[in-house]
Amino acid sequence: MQSHTHAQSHTEIQKPLHTQHLIEFGSSMSMSVLDAETVDLVVTSPPYPMIEMWDNAFRAGNEQLAEALDAGEGQTAFELMHQELDKVWAECARVLRPGAFLCINIGDATRTVGKNFRLYSNHARITSSCVALGFQALPLILWRKQTNAPNKFMGSGMLPAGAYITLEHEYILVFRKGGKRAFGPEDAVRRRHSAFFWEERNQWFSDIWDFKGARQLLTANDARSRSAAYPFELANRIINMYSLQGDTVLDPFLGTGTTTAAAIVNARNSVGYELLKDLEPFIHESVQAAHKQCRQLVRNRLRAHEQFVAEIEQRREKPLGHTNTNYGFRVMTTQETELQLLELEELQQEAAGRYRAVHKPAPRADDVNSFEPESV
Ligand SMILES: C[S@@+](CC[C@H](N)C(=O)[O-])C[C@H]1O[C@@H](n2cnc3c(N)ncnc32)[C@H](O)[C@@H]1O
Repeated sequence: MQSHTHAQSHTEIQKPLHTQHLIEFGSSMSMSVLDAETVDLVVTSPPYPMIEMWDNAFRAGNEQLAEALDAGEGQTAFELMHQELDKVWAECARVLRPGAFLCINIGDATRTVGKNFRLYSNHARITSSCVALGFQALPLILWRKQTNAPNKFMGSGMLPAGAYITLEHEYILVFRKGGKRAFGPEDAVRRRHSAFFWEERNQWFSDIWDFKGARQLLTANDARSRSAAYPFELANRIINMYSLQGDTVLDPFLGTGTTTAAAIVNARNSVGYELLKDLEPFIHESVQAAHKQCRQLVRNRLRAHEQFVAEIEQRREKPLGHTNTNYGFRVMTTQETELQLLELEELQQEAAGRYRAVHKPAPRADDVNSFEPESV
């Protein structure tokens, strides 16, 4: 059994971290509450062009687009929809700090418009726009979604040569505003506390993710089914991979507030823009779930790590070479020696769409044997 003594004395001297969470109802094509270069990470999923469930959202107020769809001009409609999204990517370019990341979850669309069945490659079109805005495209993630209908055929069935591939993946596009983020001496401690475990790195930085689609916390209803929420785990990973504790995370297409919840759980500030005011109760519910999610996530991360250490040390028949100063357990690399997970001490709603949270160092999980794999 490793000693806890050092861990306790170290965490006691750390000050609580305060974060703020802002929900704005309105279009993210103009994010006036945000000054230029004030955001450290964007994680988001826009309405998907050429996926029918989003047609009405794109048609609203855009006559040319409505006419193109009605006339069966698929390529024109696709282009006009992306021109709408482009306005939001331009706003992201304005508000992100140099070196900050923009991560976009998007799926391609297949659709018959008029008589033509074809692929509308949303990920390629968004990549072109973001590169034109000056973002650097970085290696992306394929999110392999398990569908409920693996045997769904499209096209000519078993007869060649007119059957179509079933799309069972989406993308998480990863862009950076220019070159590497510069860290000053004042960021050094915060950066080391925000480290992730070696074994998490190996899983998170793989180019294929295969966790299930969104866990639907809420019962079906109109607003919810229109939201197309992504899983908490998606926002959680991206936030840990590309931001530091105390940073500011923006989601310009907030939906049900998954990104806000993941920001609260991970002690980042957040801003979310959402067009539909009727999603407010769902966003509030996501925020309220953060307490429980945070406790579960922190416990699971610590227990999973201790289990990993036990297994690898048993296999190698010798202890790992480094020790984490906050928890007293061993870690694989020196970069993990000051890793410090934070738990949620307080979460308050100050006004409509305004939340405040207080985070403090999380103690070591005491019951390693009751580790349950994280549910996503
Ligand atoms: C794919 S959903 C996002 C789901 C979200 N990731 C979640 O986990 O709930 C896209 C959201 O963007 C919103 N939206 C569409 N256009 C918008 C705009 N111009 N500004 C802000 N929100 C917009 C839609 O109402 C919808 O809720």
